[in-house]
Amino acid sequence: MNEKKEIYKELLTFAEQAAKSSYSPYSKFAVGAAVLCEDGKVYCGTNIENASYGLTMCAERVALFTAVSNGSKNIKALAVYSENGDVTPCGACRQVIYEFSQKADIVYKDKNNKVKIESIKSLLPKCFNKKSLK
Ligand code: THU
Repeated sequence: MNEKKEIYKELLTFAEQAAKSSYSPYSKFAVGAAVLCEDGKVYCGTNIENASYGLTMCAERVALFTAVSNGSKNIKALAVYSENGDVTPCGACRQVIYEFSQKADIVYKDKNNKVKIESIKSLLPKCFNKKSLK
């Protein structure tokens, strides 16, 4: 467990670094995400906003889509960082994360800077998924 926590803490530092590239002139809310894949690779992303607000893309999906685009489809963990802490993926991102791993750990820091780990399943219970299509 401690080894896992150490790895996740490091993953959070990648997410923090990614937040520095945030393009968020409208909300001024910088977010960074880092995805740890089953193959050990790490992919990062940041939120990218647009003058047409609805076209904004969250940091989590940028990181995840980068992983998938590079051939890593199985997600072990996703760390999300924002300066004020306590940010977990939005509903849309939870659904996208679930698509690529039903067992992913979501890692973030709470307001007291404490590292928190929650399963994607606990964040998205009874979700729509590929089994629903059968
Ligand atoms: N945002 C993320 O990137 N991830 C989240 O989990 C929550 C929200 C972004 C979208 C937008 O650019 C800004 O944060 C404010 O909503």
